[in-house]
Order: sequence, then structure tokens, then C-alpha cells
Amino acid sequence: MIVTKPPMGWNSWNTFAHNIDENLIKEIADKMVDEGYLECGYDYLVIDDCWSELKRDEQGRLVPDHVKFPNGMKALADYVHSKGLKFGIYSCVGNYTCAGYPASFEYEFIDAETFAEWGVDYLKLDYCYKPQSEDGAKLYRRMGLALANCGRDIVLSACSWGADETHRWIKSTGSHLWRSTGDIVDCFSSIRDIYNIQKGIYEYNGQGCFNDMDMLIVGMGGKGHVGRENCCTTEEYRTHFSIWAFFGSPLMIGSDIRTQTPETKAILQNKAVIAVNQDAAYRQPYLLTGRPDNADVWVRHMENGDIVLGYFNMSDNEVGFPVSFTDIGLNRSTGVKLRLFDLWEMKSLGEFEDIFVTGVPAHGSKLIRARLVKK
Ligand code: GAL
Repeated sequence: MIVTKPPMGWNSWNTFAHNIDENLIKEIADKMVDEGYLECGYDYLVIDDCWSELKRDEQGRLVPDHVKFPNGMKALADYVHSKGLKFGIYSCVGNYTCAGYPASFEYEFIDAETFAEWGVDYLKLDYCYKPQSEDGAKLYRRMGLALANCGRDIVLSACSWGADETHRWIKSTGSHLWRSTGDIVDCFSSIRDIYNIQKGIYEYNGQGCFNDMDMLIVGMGGKGHVGRENCCTTEEYRTHFSIWAFFGSPLMIGSDIRTQTPETKAILQNKAVIAVNQDAAYRQPYLLTGRPDNADVWVRHMENGDIVLGYFNMSDNEVGFPVSFTDIGLNRSTGVKLRLFDLWEMKSLGEFEDIFVTGVPAHGSKLIRARLVKK
């Protein structure tokens, strides 16, 4: 199975952790459709940790928690599919999941078969309780093989938090996306930490095996499992979404979409920003200006010939950024100027020759899409 664009969807962990059940998942499925998320591209609904009984059955198969999921996973997957969505579930390469439920070590093939029977389309595979003597790459490869031979297309979402230099071996495993950092929390400092880690590994992202910067916290507003009171402003959530979109990370919503503010929805459903994330060419960005105060400008080429400028001001002060077109390869000899469009303001900024200067507030961002036009 080949995955050509960063997966998008919703995941239960950030808000609900162990507080999940069939009704919640059905309500989320309904909202993903009714509130326009599916239409924007969010099509995977993923149940994270804490969905199973503590023991496997006599055949060694995982068993859904009877109280939380009284009708089992097949019925729930059918419901999710009936909405036009895809269904995801969670396990670990180790003996237990991170929350202590049975996991897939030495049950890889039987679990893959079970998931296929239930109609699972996406497996998030975590890294807890890995026997010390075992090589992580080997375990992801084993599950990669199990899924590739289970008779159903199932996306493999590796979640080894960047440990053991994940970026060096993950593309050999059959994983379609891989977590490159530890867990996000609902705070700007967490967004900044994850962003800074990307500076050392962004070259390893690529089509078919996407660098997953973790589930989104946009709109959590202090509520839920990784929620932190008064830790993020709307501007900071916008910066978070801008970075994840620009770097081509999977976009998995982690907030409660049943109770979303219009500001949150406007961020998560900005189709022009999503289009950058989902761009068919999936080119690697490059750093144009990296300032010591952690305020940077990046550039990414789009499939249709446009360029996107990503301004990420992680510093605590407003910063003015001059971008000289010579630095992006467009010197005078090219005879082109740039027609600029601000993807958050959703407005044209006009046409510019040689240089464009703009300011970005503290913890703010800008995504500006540039079209090349003849002078
Ligand atoms: C962590 C993982 C989280 C979540 C959690 C569940 O290891 O990074 O995203 O899945 O386990 O216990």
C-alpha cells in the first residue's frame, strides 16, 4: 500500500485518553461529517490506547472492552465506514500498550488478521514495553509484513517518538508515518520544542513515510488529557497548525470537535493551508533565514510552480523579516516578480520585485503563497 499524502483525521488520545466508548466514537464520526471536517480531508477516525480488555481470548486474539464497546469493533467500524470515514485503532510493538493493555509483541500476525477482519484501515503502533533485547526496527518490520499480508489495506502509523534514531530506519519497515518526537501538550513551549526538533530531521520526511509531529492540540483550550489551562492563545494555535501543515506532518485533530469554537474551526478548516500540507509534489522545505532568536523563514515549492513562504516567529518579540528574492533563486536575470497571497488573511498582498518585507508578532506565523509572474 502506498500513501501519497500526509494522513488527516481525528485521534481520541489528546482529549479523551481512557475515557472512550462506542457512543463517543459515533458522535465524533457524525461531527466529522456534519461539521465539514471530512470535506476538508480529515477522513481517519482513530481510537488510541485503552480500548481492549486486559486479557486476550483463548485463541490469543485481542478483545474489545465489553463495557466501552459492547457491540465490538466490527460494528463500530461499519458505522464509521457508513459515514464515508476510515477506521483506526492502536497497539504497541511491546508486550503492553503504554497504558498497560495487551499489545502486539509476538502476536503481530494474529493481530493484523483480527484488525483486517474488523475492517480497520489504520494502525497506530506505539513503542512502550518493548523487550530490551529486541530491536525496534525489527518489530516495526514484522508488523509491516503482517499488515502487508493481511488481505486489507491498513496504514501503519509508527509511534516510537524519534527514539533509537527512528528516522534512519523507519522507511525500511513498511510504516507510512512515524512519530518524530515525544508527546505534545497543550502549551506553546511544547509546540516550540517539537518545531525545534524538526530542524535536525526535516530532510527525512517524504512521500510514502511521513514525519508525524504528533496529534494537534488546536482548540483544546486547557480541556482533556493533554490540556493545559491558559497555555495557548488562538494565535499560537494558528502558528502550531501553520508549522504542521507547512512541514507536511499528518494532521490528526486531538481536540473535542463536538464543542468547537468558530476560531478553532477556522484554523482546522482553512483549505488553503491544508492544500499546502497535501500538495501533490510533497517537496522538502528549506530554511531561508534562521535567526538565533528562533524566528525563521522557510520556503517550500508547490506542485503547480508556486512557492510558499513559511514565517514562524517562535521568539517572544515581534520580528521584521526581509525576504530577498535572490535568496530563493530568483535574481533579476529571471525576469519574474512574485504575486503574493496571505493564506491566513485570505487576501492578496500585491506584486513585489526583488524584496518583500513583513512583520510577524511574537509566537505568530504567516503562510504566504507566491505565484511567479513575468515583469
Ligand atoms: C504514547 C503516545 C501517545 C499515546 C499514548 C497512549 O506513547 O506517544 O500519542 O498514544 O502513548 O498511551
